[in-house]
Parts: sequence; C-alpha cells; structure tokens
Amino acid sequence: MWLRGQRAGLGPYRGDLVADYWRWEQDPGVIVGYGRQTPESLEARTEGYQHQARGTDDQLRFTVYDVTSTPVPVGTSSILIDHHVRTGEFFIMLGDPARRGNGIGTEAIRLTLDYAFHVTNLACVYLSVLAPNTTAIKAYERAGFRRIGERRNSGYWLGQRVNEVLMDAVPDDFPGPSAVKDLLRPAL
Ligand SMILES: CC(C)(COP(=O)(O)OP(=O)(O)OC[C@H]1O[C@@H](n2cnc3c(N)ncnc32)[C@H](O)[C@@H]1OP(=O)(O)O)[C@@H](O)C(=O)NCCC(=O)NCCS
Repeated sequence: MWLRGQRAGLGPYRGDLVADYWRWEQDPGVIVGYGRQTPESLEARTEGYQHQARGTDDQLRFTVYDVTSTPVPVGTSSILIDHHVRTGEFFIMLGDPARRGNGIGTEAIRLTLDYAFHVTNLACVYLSVLAPNTTAIKAYERAGFRRIGERRNSGYWLGQRVNEVLMDAVPDDFPGPSAVKDLLRPAL
C-alpha cells in the first residue's frame, strides 16, 4: 500500500483484481452513480484493463483499501490527466454497498488528491457528479472539492433527467494533513 490513513489506503491498480473491479462496477449503485446504463461483460472489462495498464503516463489509478481492520481491497479511484494544462478528471467507487457510509470514500478521495497534488503535481482536479448523488457530493466536499456550477439536464438518476454538479479542487484548498508529506518528512 502506498498511502494509508485511518480508514482508507491506496495501492496499485492490479491485474489480479480485474474480476473484482468488474464485479464492483456492475453493482447497480455504481452503474447509476457513474451515469452508465448497461452492465459490462467480464471479457470487455478484462480488455479495458489491458488498455488501462498500458496508459499509465496519462492516468493515476489506485485500488482503494478498507484499513479499519486487516486491509482489504474495496474499490478504485482514478484521475485522467491532461498534461497540457496539468489538470485531471476524478472518479471513485466502492463496490460493496456495505462498505459505503463509513468514511472510507472521503478518506480515499483525500488521499487521491494528496497524491495528485504532491506527487503528480497537478494544478486542478475536477469532476462531475449527478445532483441527486448526495452521498458522493458530501464526501467530495469533505475531502476538499468545491462546487463550481451545475450543468443542466446532463444525466439520469432512477429514470429522471437530472443536472450534474461540477466540482474542482486545487492545492491551496487541500485540507491536510498530507500523507505524502508525512512519508517524506525526515524522522526526528
Ligand atoms: C461515492 C462514494 C465513493 C463515497 O464513499 P463513502 O465511503 O460511501 O462515503 P463516506 O462514508 O465518506 O461519506 C458518505 C456518508 O457516510 C457518512 N460518514 C462519513 N464519515 C463517517 C463516519 N466516520 N462514520 C459514519 N458515517 C460516516 C457521511 O455522513 C455520509 O452519510 P450521508 O450521505 O448519509 O450523510 C461511495 O458511496 C460509492 O462508491 N458510491 C457508488 C459509486 C458512485 O456514486 N461514485 C461517484 C460517481 S460521481
């Protein structure tokens, strides 16, 4: 594991977990949250993983761990980087509904921003989230994202056309403490 907090940790994106990533991504809560409309086959997801694994210069991808007891992989977080302007688009999911609502998502978001600002040196991380996805919006706000606007009629939530909330985070807003800086701080 590369970064570790009280509830969540971040480690490498792993080929041996592709079937888990696929299973988590087919959870209806994740499909609705991501604005998708159909499940994906394991075969297509495995091909998608091969593509993702080759493109690491343009992506930050992490496995999210629940570290409240023996660490167990529970989801993924990622940022798709635009190197021209040093920005990136953020995504996260915890696959098992039973793992949600315990603060793991908030801490995983904060650790991903920590890495993005202090290792990858991004100047801005942004996202869009369906307006009714209040659990995700609260977690994003607690982790350091701010609302910057709303795009109207841009998605669906449980059969209804809804707006998307646009959010961003910049290094100056990072709430800290930084797990990256703690790792590099010389021992006293
Ligand atoms: C979005 C997502 C990653 C957030 O992760 P999470 O672990 O559920 O989020 P958190 O637990 O940090 O915060 C959300 C809720 O937990 C509560 N919470 C936070 N810390 C807590 C703690 N220490 N103890 C108990 N509850 C806590 C929050 O108050 C909030 O609850 P509420 O919405 O009922 O008010 C997760 O819910 C998920 O994977 N959803 C499906 C996929 C998705 O929608 N992704 C986002 C697409 S834009």
